[in-house]
Amino acid sequence: MVSRRQILANAGRVCLLGAIKPSRVIAQNGLMQRAIPKTGELLPVIGLGTYRTFNVGDDPSELDPLKRVTDLFFQHGGTVVDSSPGYGPSEAAFGYVARQIDLPDNLFVATKVRAEGRDQGISQMDASPKKMGVSQIDLMQVHSLTDWRTQLPILKERKAQGIYRYIGITASREELYEDFITIMRREPLDFIQINYSVAERKAEETILPLAMDRGMAVFINRPFVAGVLFPYVTKKALPDWAAEFDCESWGQFFLKFVLSHPAVTVALQATSSPEHLVDNLRAGQSLLPDEELRQRMVNLIGLTGRPPWN
Ligand SMILES: NC(=O)c1ccc[n+]([C@@H]2O[C@H](COP(=O)([O-])OP(=O)(O)OC[C@H]3O[C@@H](n4cnc5c(N)ncnc54)[C@H](OP(=O)(O)O)[C@@H]3O)[C@@H](O)[C@H]2O)c1
Repeated sequence: MVSRRQILANAGRVCLLGAIKPSRVIAQNGLMQRAIPKTGELLPVIGLGTYRTFNVGDDPSELDPLKRVTDLFFQHGGTVVDSSPGYGPSEAAFGYVARQIDLPDNLFVATKVRAEGRDQGISQMDASPKKMGVSQIDLMQVHSLTDWRTQLPILKERKAQGIYRYIGITASREELYEDFITIMRREPLDFIQINYSVAERKAEETILPLAMDRGMAVFINRPFVAGVLFPYVTKKALPDWAAEFDCESWGQFFLKFVLSHPAVTVALQATSSPEHLVDNLRAGQSLLPDEELRQRMVNLIGLTGRPPWN
């Protein structure tokens, strides 16, 4: 069984306030950081997703609340933002926000290509930094393996040219897992992005261990199963034993489950609510559950198979 301290130490990848030697305490504004395996670059463990939440029109009344959420995210030590041209106007909505707030020096921008064919892929990739209001995309990913045989070679060329620092692939559906695993085994990816939660655990079987073996950083998407998990717990009180890993809310419960898997680098959560954001960030500021507690979390939630579960 893996002890809590082992999970925290996790071969130097997990660093937490006070739980480890001062020389290895690398929290930023109290938020744990983990290293990208290929380079050692540190990233805060909670990232900001933009699917649906940033999918808004150009009306300032819709955009301004996102400004508040993003600003708070950066103020609390967050640096990782994930978007995609596949999320409607989300990249442009982030760009609107980015032009109006102070961005962290170590901002880490991830986006994706979701296009068929070389020309369309290149034109989509070229448009992303302009839309997002940034000079560089740090991580470019093939979104849900769309035309990956064409797009992945472009990503490799562009990484070699210094246009992208990191490249990767994403998926959020089990139907893609077989191809996803094949690509992970063959290709020199820096990152993978995959769905994983206390209720969707299939990635534990092969994808997450393989990422560790291959030295790939892992972004987790859908940690709340796109919000579907919350209605299952609204009438339930948190169990007493949640205090053992400093868990104060269901949002933290779901995120701490994800973050306590040793393969995970960053959990991408999406929210349009400042209160939810601050709550979610706290999941990355304190203790994580050990293996025994993780099993209790799975049993308590009691959801297996694919959503929707009702
Ligand atoms: N194939 C892919 O590449 C792929 C697929 C899916 C997602 N992603 C990435 O992963 C990110 C996260 O996934 P996701 O957006 O699908 O879903 P998610 O983060 O699992 O869930 C988002 C939902 O949870 C709610 N929520 C967040 N914090 C909460 C809290 N503390 N209490 C109650 N409700 C809370 C949000 O509503 P409120 O606004 O009310 O807080 C929102 O409706 C995406 O934004 C995207 O960047 C990638």
